[in-house]
Amino acid sequence: MKVLVTGGAGFIGMHTASTLIELGYEVHIADLLHSYYSLERKNIHLQQIEKTGKFHFCRVDLTDRKATAELFTAVKPDAVIHLAALPGVAYSLEEPLLYVDYDVKATINVLEAAGKSDVKKVVFASSSSVYGDQPGKPLKEEMANGQVISPYAASKWSAESFCHVYASLYSYSVSILRFFTVYGPWGRPDMAIAKFIKLAMNGQPVEIYGQGSGRDYTYVDDIVNGIVLSLTDEKPFEIWNVGAGHPVLMSRLLERLKMYFPALEVQIKGHRTGDVTSTWADISKMTKDKSYRPTVSIEEGLERTIKWAYENKEYL
Ligand code: NAD
Ligand code: UGA
Repeated sequence: MKVLVTGGAGFIGMHTASTLIELGYEVHIADLLHSYYSLERKNIHLQQIEKTGKFHFCRVDLTDRKATAELFTAVKPDAVIHLAALPGVAYSLEEPLLYVDYDVKATINVLEAAGKSDVKKVVFASSSSVYGDQPGKPLKEEMANGQVISPYAASKWSAESFCHVYASLYSYSVSILRFFTVYGPWGRPDMAIAKFIKLAMNGQPVEIYGQGSGRDYTYVDDIVNGIVLSLTDEKPFEIWNVGAGHPVLMSRLLERLKMYFPALEVQIKGHRTGDVTSTWADISKMTKDKSYRPTVSIEEGLERTIKWAYENKEYL
């Protein structure tokens, strides 16, 4: 089976591509190598994938409708895992229009090109941010209502809606996966866990935005497992949460980090606009439908990520 992974040079993409290669899929990666974070880092991701086996790479901007169509005509994939996007919540408040291009327009281009080139399966990377700010309870798929609080979340909600449109226009099966705050080796440098570990290793203070926040931090291997489980699903249109199912308060995350970095200095700052207070994935639907079970606890995941960070200091 030939799988096109868009955004395959990114954090989740590199882990996904490596796993698919190990599982025997023919893997094609389409990535712009966007400068949201360093290009050097993305090239290292590609080198890491190469260690697991061969893959095909195409540098392409999926906001370009013609280039996207040409990519699909050339590759003729059986399935596409669409991860390419601008991912940060905070940056979306600075540059909202970029998110319309990179998260909505690029998704429409992919959905259209996939339909025209006879793709059988589309997996779309959505986000826990589509639930908006609904703290204190497990988030079930049907609780998303469009009442979101950042341009990033609005663009993911809109892209989900386009997935629904194109699932009705073409005969492919669409799985929308709502990932919950993903971390692990090669984690995105702008995100809390990767950022905090780097600062702690350098003896610098971490800044905490607001108080009482929490996240359903999900280890990247569990996310990749969710992607692989959905890849062979044949239902016309389905939405699943992919999370750990256990919210972790910021205070607990910091306590855990202090076990590794006892001198860690914490500075409390004001709430960051656009950030939801907390997330908590109800994963019962994915568990029931696909036998999805997260396997890496936050304790184990942090241990692995910190070990990775020490072994790869030069790339942090
Ligand atoms: P990432 O930034 O590491 O990876 C995204 C990749 O997409 C990058 O390599 C980038 O160069 C590429 N890209 C961006 N725009 C492109 C374009 N127009 N054409 C081609 N390539 C393009 O981000 P990530 O954390 O790996 O996230 C992957 C996906 O998962 C994103 O859609 C993100 O919104 C979603 N997601 C991530 C998280 C998380 O916690 N990391 C949580 C929920 C959802
Ligand atoms: C993350 C990703 O950035 C999004 O791409 C993704 O869509 C989203 O998860 C998701 O789950 O859908 P977020 O949960 O905000 O967004 O992840 P982080 O940026 O790692 O922030 C986690 C928590 O740490 C938040 O409460 C944030 O306010 C806090 N934080 C972050 C700090 O206190 N200090 C920092 O320096 C960074």
